[in-house]
Formats: sequence, C-alpha cells, structure tokens
Amino acid sequence: MNDFTLELIKRSGGVTSPDVQKLLLARSKKSKLVSHQYIVRMMNDLARNDFYRDIIKKHVPNKSILEVGAGAGLLSLLALKYGARLVNTCEHNELLYEPLDGLFARTLSNDQRLVLHKKSVFDLKKSNFRTKVDVLLHELFADDVFSEDFLLSVLFAKQFLKDTGRVVPGIVNVIARPVFAEGLKREPTIKPYDGFKFNELNETISRPRKYFWSKNMKIKSSEDAKVIFSLDLNKSKIPLEGQCGLRLPRKSRANVVLVYFELKDGQNRLCTGPDGQSTHWQTTFYVIDEKSEYIRFHYKLNSFWATFDS
Ligand SMILES: C[S@@+](CC[C@H](N)C(=O)[O-])C[C@H]1O[C@@H](n2cnc3c(N)ncnc32)[C@H](O)[C@@H]1O
Repeated sequence: MNDFTLELIKRSGGVTSPDVQKLLLARSKKSKLVSHQYIVRMMNDLARNDFYRDIIKKHVPNKSILEVGAGAGLLSLLALKYGARLVNTCEHNELLYEPLDGLFARTLSNDQRLVLHKKSVFDLKKSNFRTKVDVLLHELFADDVFSEDFLLSVLFAKQFLKDTGRVVPGIVNVIARPVFAEGLKREPTIKPYDGFKFNELNETISRPRKYFWSKNMKIKSSEDAKVIFSLDLNKSKIPLEGQCGLRLPRKSRANVVLVYFELKDGQNRLCTGPDGQSTHWQTTFYVIDEKSEYIRFHYKLNSFWATFDS
C-alpha cells in the first residue's frame, strides 16, 4: 500500500487503523484471478449491458475516459462506439490480457483512441495519462456488493479524474428488505458423533450468516425495501465504513432479510433485487433470528456483514 492510498483513506473520511491497513494488504494479494470465472454470466446479462450502454451513450461523447477493470472489454468498446475521444482501461487479471489484445486488435485495427494498461488501478500513475480524464467508468460489483473492492478502486482512480469530471455510475445504494420466503432450507449444523456434541461451534456458526437466494425459494409476503447505505461516488468525502440498523417486523412473518444493490445514474437504474430486472447478480439474505429486534448492517472497505441485537 502506498502513501497515496493512506492519504486517500484519510481524506475520504475513512479510517486508518492497523486492521484497515492489514485488510488493504490482504486485498491487494487476493482475488486478482477470479473474474474470468463469472465473466460469461456477466457478459450475457442484458439488463446489466443495457444499463451500462445507456449511461455510456449519455456521458462519453467527446470525453476522455478511464475504465477500471476492462474484463472482457465490452464497456471500453461501447465507449469508443458512442463517441469517446480517448479510452484508458486497466485490468489486473492477467488471464484476460491475451483475449483483450485479440479482441481490440480485431475490432479496432489501428484505432489509437484505446490504451489498455495491463495492471491494477492501484499501480497506475499520473504519468500513464496525458491529462486527467473526464469520466471514470466502473463496474466492479460482486453479488456481495463491496467484495470486489469497488469502493477503494474508485476512490483511488478519482485522482486521475478532472475536478469537473464524473464518476459513472454515480450512486450505489445497498438495500435491505425483510420478506417471508418459502422454501428456506434449515441451516446445516454439525451432528453429534460418537457421543461428542458440538454445541459451541454450532452456536457460533449459526450467528448471522449470509446465504444466496436459490431457485426453490419464493417470496410470499414482504415489508418495504429500505436503502441502508447510499454512496454518492461524486461526492468529495465518501465514508469507507458505515453502520445501519433495521428494526425487524414483529407482526409480519418475515423470516429473512434480503440484501441487494442498485446502481443509479440520473434516470437510469439497475437493481439486482427481486423487484428489479433479472440480472446475473444473486440476491443475498440473512435468516432472521427470532430472539432479535434489530438487524444491524456494517460495511468496511471490501467487507459487508450483519449482526442481530435484541
Ligand atoms: C465485474 S468485471 C466488469 C468488466 C467490464 N468492465 C464490464 O463491465 O464488462 C470487473 C473487472 O475488473 C477487474 N478489476 C477489479 N478490480 C480491479 C482493479 N483494482 N484494477 C484493475 N482491474 C480490476 C476484474 O478483474 C474484472 O475483470
């Protein structure tokens, strides 16, 4: 982690404690080579692609762009197609470099408007750019919204953005919604074996755990959805950690709390929850602990978790 990252964390209103520094170091080593595993699902997600195409059309004409995370190359190609003056893109998964080179050579021949940086955004330097860019484009979202580290990647990349520039999409909302779901499987616990019971461990692992929505689950009734975190990436101060509580409904039969996210840019919206279009992102959920009155959500950099309070 370099001095800039630390400075950035301070300026974003975030935290600089030793545990955050450890997290950042762990982050820079982990998950660089995973994106090719989900890329097919992601690329065939028309709701996602249409949302990005619409906002790209709106923001890129005659603008210089920095895209964080080239992936399969789609967003950079769309930016060029819809009139970007110059596109810088970067990618840290080296398994994608050969396909990206092939795609760009075949599709763009000698178009000089695209520069692919084969490195992490965290390794980009001011000298990699002629001037600062007008638009910072990003799609760094996993099912669990913070876990692909969109927050720090975007904050870091903002140093290459003009003061008058825009982060696109600008708003990331995390949404929670208690629902009664049919088809919920009981949590697996460790069964007794040869006279030994694993009560303590069973108690520990049954604390709020995240699950992924499965095909055989159906929503039977629902409370209102609530935005638990709203991050405006165009603001100058963006907190790197947050906490938000949700009172659990007593009267309704809600047995889980769904957690999903939406991306917003002006009138354009992409929602990954069950009330939105169908996307490749999975909805996560937390099983409601019957003794509790509140569920509390927390995020810190690339981690998101829930706790229950009585
Ligand atoms: C969710 S995919 C999106 C790909 C492409 N932008 C699209 O929307 O079609 C995110 C891509 O960004 C890359 N990535 C994530 N964090 C990055 C970082 N800090 N620096 C460079 N690439 C990154 C991942 O390896 C992955 O290929």
